[in-house]
Amino acid sequence: MAPSANNLSRHQAVAAVRRRLLDADVETADEDARLLLRAATGLTSLELATQQQSALTPEQSLLLEQYVTRREAHEPVSRILGSRGFWTVDLLVTPNVLDPRPDTETLIETALSLVENKPNAPLKILELGAGSGAIACALLSELPKAEAFIVDLSPHACKASQANLARCGLSNRAFVLQAWWYEAIQAQFDLIISNPPYVASAALSTLPPSVRLYDPLLALDGGEDGLDCYRAIIRDLPRVLKSRGLVIFELGCGQAADVRLMLEAMSLEVEKIARDLGGHERALAARAPKRDLHRI
Ligand SMILES: C[S@@+](CC[C@H](N)C(=O)[O-])C[C@H]1O[C@@H](n2cnc3c(N)ncnc32)[C@H](O)[C@@H]1O
Repeated sequence: MAPSANNLSRHQAVAAVRRRLLDADVETADEDARLLLRAATGLTSLELATQQQSALTPEQSLLLEQYVTRREAHEPVSRILGSRGFWTVDLLVTPNVLDPRPDTETLIETALSLVENKPNAPLKILELGAGSGAIACALLSELPKAEAFIVDLSPHACKASQANLARCGLSNRAFVLQAWWYEAIQAQFDLIISNPPYVASAALSTLPPSVRLYDPLLALDGGEDGLDCYRAIIRDLPRVLKSRGLVIFELGCGQAADVRLMLEAMSLEVEKIARDLGGHERALAARAPKRDLHRI
């Protein structure tokens, strides 16, 4: 804030923060100004709305200044505040781990719609590329009999997943493994779910600064055409997916047709493609064929 920020009322502080964020080309300046003021003062939206004329304390001004400086550098609010809501859970957002996105909730809706008839049945889930553990935390919180294996190559992601599972009280039904996709997996699963890195390498430099500067490259880079991780995962699916098991992928924009072809080439049948709130095809679910037991 400006040097005289100590004397600003809350109302004036929101306006000043909003102006600074607009000048820094932050698109969500209005919403962010209110969120950062709430976090710096510890007040609820209602308290802020009804006590707009009270002045900020020096401590609150200092904290707000630190938050605004970080947001002007395009650091996402969830990273500045260290947490975000995902589905119905509240997750820690830590450095070097992908900040989970609302679009990824489309995978949760898709998974729940396909296991809808038997939410209390035992279900073995494998999540590939866990990041913060958002997907596993959301699914385990909805499916009380489910158990999850959670894999990520990044030690930061494994640590974050473990912390979030503990935060959600779900550690007893999850096992976190630092590994390369299925490399260390011997078991077979009812549901394999993944939001793999899917940005084409050449497009990485065009991502908005809030992504490019703060999300780890390992979580974004999908190789030359963005599809490398789908190829790597789908190649080995028959080994780890049970007969009639489900696989659900998050998709980047325009990737549905390619991923469908890869799955169909492995005899999986696409059961559902769901759109996110922006209308993009975001989640693809496919089912493994029924295995002929006599041939096993
Ligand atoms: C797009 S992020 C998804 C994170 C989280 N599931 C979410 O939706 O917010 C992809 C994750 O895949 C992990 N990853 C990348 N390559 C991997 C590999 N070869 N084996 C295992 N995990 C990998 C990254 O570390 C990253 O955490």
